[in-house]
Amino acid sequence: MTRQQAELRLTALRAELQDHAHQYYVQDAPVISDAEYDRLFRELLCMEAQFPDLVTLDSPSQRVGGEPLAAFAEAIHTLPMLSLDNIFAAEELADFEERVRRRLKSTAQLTWTAEPKIDGLAVELRYENGFFVEGSTRGNGFVGENITANLRTVRNIPLRLLADGPLPERLAVRGEVYLSKKDFAALNQQRAGQDEPLFANPRNAAAGSLRQLDPKITAARPLSFFVYGVADPAALPCASLTELFPHLRSLGFPVNPLIKFCRSLAEAEEHYRHLQQIRHGLDYEIDGMVIKAASFAVQEELGSTARAPRWAVAWKFPAEEAEAVMSGVEYQVGRTGAITPVAVLEPMNIGGVVVRRAALHNQDEIQRKGLMIGDTVLVRRAGDVIPEVIRPLPERRTGQEQPIVFPKECPSCNNALHRPEGEAVTRCRNPRCPAQRLQRIIWFAGKSGLDIEGLGPKNVEKLAEAKLIEDIPDIFCL
Ligand code: IVH
Repeated sequence: MTRQQAELRLTALRAELQDHAHQYYVQDAPVISDAEYDRLFRELLCMEAQFPDLVTLDSPSQRVGGEPLAAFAEAIHTLPMLSLDNIFAAEELADFEERVRRRLKSTAQLTWTAEPKIDGLAVELRYENGFFVEGSTRGNGFVGENITANLRTVRNIPLRLLADGPLPERLAVRGEVYLSKKDFAALNQQRAGQDEPLFANPRNAAAGSLRQLDPKITAARPLSFFVYGVADPAALPCASLTELFPHLRSLGFPVNPLIKFCRSLAEAEEHYRHLQQIRHGLDYEIDGMVIKAASFAVQEELGSTARAPRWAVAWKFPAEEAEAVMSGVEYQVGRTGAITPVAVLEPMNIGGVVVRRAALHNQDEIQRKGLMIGDTVLVRRAGDVIPEVIRPLPERRTGQEQPIVFPKECPSCNNALHRPEGEAVTRCRNPRCPAQRLQRIIWFAGKSGLDIEGLGPKNVEKLAEAKLIEDIPDIFCL
């Protein structure tokens, strides 16, 4: 293949891969199979290896992460990245509207956006003539860290903007990088297996992943992005957020589908209640709702304080933490023999749900937190993740608390437990252990296995109790 032919093919390949990645990661509607995508991607890598000088910065191959950095450089924000004022109740929303109206000279009808407040990390992405050139953290609002190489690995951040017409010479968009709840759980599970410290929540995991000096580590973490604004609205032909969001979507940016345009703050309040109801079913964490005056002219007239804009406010969700008495610890035996300690709590209510059990993760976590049986503990129920014990409240101790003694024998089969040197997980190594067998059948019949209808955990337990099944093959003899 000549260089010229390679150049043509590479341009076509990149456009095709960019389009498919957009369909897949932004539109959630893939048009080709994963295998076909991989084939095109391998062709791209192969040709770029043959013609290294033809590699461009917007090539999908650049998402795998380049060389590690010694330190992050500074990134100066052309316009400061402000914070938001918080409110916690509907009455404060009325005060916010009152303040806005008092400050405005015009009495025209106000319109608003009500947006999920994504619980991730604020970033700025700069584009020049449609190419992603620099990405940074918020930092102190004026100067952040240059994390361009890491942001390049975030699959739904466009490296090159889609364009129907002319693109702005310079465009800085702002938004939130986050890790989905599912990927957070998988990441922590993997870390537990490798005896690495666990992340407390998806937000910390996203922050830790973005602030890696080695972009290959970031590339291995499935981070995502939602855009929520631009540094300078004058860069685009939009008069309000109502026009901006569809425009940003047409440029290839992922816009959150739950952003609602509202004609009154009563409508915004209704959306808040709705978000509060559905938040646990979402695959990413939100910690409230952001309300913004939609018109850029209005935003400009209202201006900002040194800390936050006067045209927006964050209405936070109530806390999801509560205190509970930990009356004991149970030890569950998993499918692979891993022993998981679980806190038994005196039942209490967090955000409308009764909680009786909470995760303690492993022996090291119990020790690190310094927990004792009988402790009053702080429990967090975030999203649809299993509630977890955050820490004890030592000031509430009475002297009656008992140490937690990790068992030496399997609670199911009494075989000696084993914890390999340097690992966090303690295991029962008896392959005939009844609890392990039961968990294996549950796993095999469940969603990760054959997904057998009518054979959920409860029925498997009943069948095992009745001695109708003991191991996986027994299912087929029923
Ligand atoms: S607007 C000047 N919109 O919340 C306005 N922020 O507590 C700046 N956030 O630093 C922010 N979702 O990281 C805005 N839909 C949203 C948001 C959002 C999450 C974060 C953002 C900001 C923080 C302020």
